[in-house]
Amino acid sequence: MKVINNISQLRECLAELRSKGQSIGFVPTMGALHEGHASLVRRSVKENDVTVVSIFLNPTQFNDPKDLERYPRTLEADCRLLEACGADIAFAPTVKEIYPEPDTRQFSYPPTDSVMEGAMRPGHFNGVCQIVSKLFSYVEPDRSYFGEKDYQQIAVIRRMAADLGIKSQIVPCPVVRQSDGLALSSRNTLLSEEERITAANIYRIMKESLTKNLSVQQTHDYVVNSINAIPGLEVQYFSIVDGDSLADVTSWDDAPSIVGCITVFCGEKPIRLIDHIRYK
Ligand code: PAF
Repeated sequence: MKVINNISQLRECLAELRSKGQSIGFVPTMGALHEGHASLVRRSVKENDVTVVSIFLNPTQFNDPKDLERYPRTLEADCRLLEACGADIAFAPTVKEIYPEPDTRQFSYPPTDSVMEGAMRPGHFNGVCQIVSKLFSYVEPDRSYFGEKDYQQIAVIRRMAADLGIKSQIVPCPVVRQSDGLALSSRNTLLSEEERITAANIYRIMKESLTKNLSVQQTHDYVVNSINAIPGLEVQYFSIVDGDSLADVTSWDDAPSIVGCITVFCGEKPIRLIDHIRYK
């Protein structure tokens, strides 16, 4: 696996591969890689001739400097995992390489980027669009792989890709979970063992809500009240939304696809965990 740190070298290398007719799969990451990322990389390796993985902790998508500071940085271990998964190129640029000048572009794709995480973390999705649009322009992938763990992020990126005429196919990939249901996340490493066990209740309760035959409002209240009753967990929001536009729904008949998106504070620090469940 080649590790490349600068944009011109990446472009040169990919132009050569493309000229030989090779298809390019792309997995953007912020590092601190785990089995969830590995599943995206393996899928890209299977579906493309060449797989590029970017490892870049993008400062513009962090609205809380403390969150950026404590985000795990594990470049060596990340490269070992990528090599084992069969990735061909790891692109690990510096902040100066990506942002020689501050990026002043503004992206706006409501309601996908204005609700839920967009409302709780102002500027977050603008930062995601800034970096993903730059990465798309360097890599020009045939297919790009995103984890459904960040359900809302995929909805925003789809809108951005359509808006900018990005040719890459956007491939959503299922959440990878621990055996107890906790969605894998780089942030899980910040939880104690006890907090991880507690956090598994989030998905357990959302899954339970599938079987209750409740209205949308009752489902919302069931999930929020059941999670808040567990010491160490506090729901920030649970929104039941149209699976494409992310607009709120009030009835199960409101949209062909409906998901519940949740953010929960877990433990002492606390750590913010996100997850979702598909109702239809
Ligand atoms: O999902 C992530 O890890 C990041 O938001 C992404 C897509 C790599 C952009 O920095």
